[in-house]
Amino acid sequence: MSTTLTTPHAGTGVARFLDACHGRTPDATPIWFMRQAGRCLPDYRALRTRYDMLTLAKTPDLCAAVTLMPVREFDVDAAVIFADIMVPLEGMGVDLEIEPSIGPIIHNPIRSRADVERLRLIDPAEDVAFLLDAIRLVRRELEGHKAVIGFSGSPFTLACYMVEGGPSRDYGLAKSFMYREPQAWHALMDKLASVITCYLQAQITAGADVVQLFDSWVGALSPADYARYVQPHVRRIFDTLAGAGVPTIHFGTGAASLLELMAAAGGDVISVDWRVSLDDAWARIGADRGIQGNLDPTRLLAGWDVTLEGARDVLRRAGGRPGHIFNLGHGVLPATDPALLRRLVEYVRETSARGSAMEERL
Ligand code: CP3
Repeated sequence: MSTTLTTPHAGTGVARFLDACHGRTPDATPIWFMRQAGRCLPDYRALRTRYDMLTLAKTPDLCAAVTLMPVREFDVDAAVIFADIMVPLEGMGVDLEIEPSIGPIIHNPIRSRADVERLRLIDPAEDVAFLLDAIRLVRRELEGHKAVIGFSGSPFTLACYMVEGGPSRDYGLAKSFMYREPQAWHALMDKLASVITCYLQAQITAGADVVQLFDSWVGALSPADYARYVQPHVRRIFDTLAGAGVPTIHFGTGAASLLELMAAAGGDVISVDWRVSLDDAWARIGADRGIQGNLDPTRLLAGWDVTLEGARDVLRRAGGRPGHIFNLGHGVLPATDPALLRRLVEYVRETSARGSAMEERL
């Protein structure tokens, strides 16, 4: 059962965030950044000289400290737990490491039906106890102030890494496995969907106010292939989580052609990137859903004026309608100046504050 039974106070980050997720009018548009914890923060870089990324994620007090860094630094409305989408896979029997600036590397990739069968289901209380402890620590710190976001990779994005053995441009190995061995593929998706569901449920029980499913590489699929090979498994995750009592966010990139199918698979909020206009995307997913996004993160590399122009356009397209969560279309890039993120949070909060003079001008 969820621990989010108290009604948050109006004007807090958590109230703002949950209002937007539930389609109520928040006092200002909530804002946070994917990949806010980490690479662009000097304090994070300093910690990384002593510990590798997975050690940070697996040590609850360090994980909590890194999770809280961007909340203090940027005053965002939500903390996203510092982990990686790879974290639940180790308990399934996946042998992995995270290579700095490259990404996850898997030493025993999945290439056959027998490989799929060897994968175990996880027991979150055993296999990811460190993560649940970190959520409890963060929750205690932020309770009543900021939202705590739990997350997981989606079956497709995780399967891409598991089959490829690492990052890939075209997902040739993963997609050819999908086409050539559809039964083994569905068995893999099914196992991942079960693991992801209980992993997210455990995060909710530990205190996550909202959970996000990252389908970062879903844009590699045609609509017909998504509907056939992926959507039923994602739908099962969201259908099961619907009873968990917390809102869900469904994120994809390069997924402009899949928006209706992703929305049909589930999620109270659909997170879109900059390749689609926010107002067009919202019309397509339906006004009954919330929307998250969708500033191009590379705008921040070009300075404040370019960032401001993009942020203004996102807010104008959202049009002050309830249900918008301001975010980048994808993660913060490591070269981003943290001062610009802070300024962006201030700008969005002031401009979107209900009744503000700036809101009138948008
Ligand atoms: O701040 C946060 O959002 C919380 C932590 C978080 C990390 N990874 C930490 C991390 C989250 C939510 C993720 C999700 C994740 N990881 C995704 C989905 C989101 C997305 O960006 O599409 C994906 C695809 C991964 C896989 C991954 N992990 C890659 C491709 C990389 C390396 C490239 C990179 O971005 O640096 C990682 C490593 C990783 N995960 C780092 C961090 C802070 C960098 C670790 C380091 O060297 O310090």
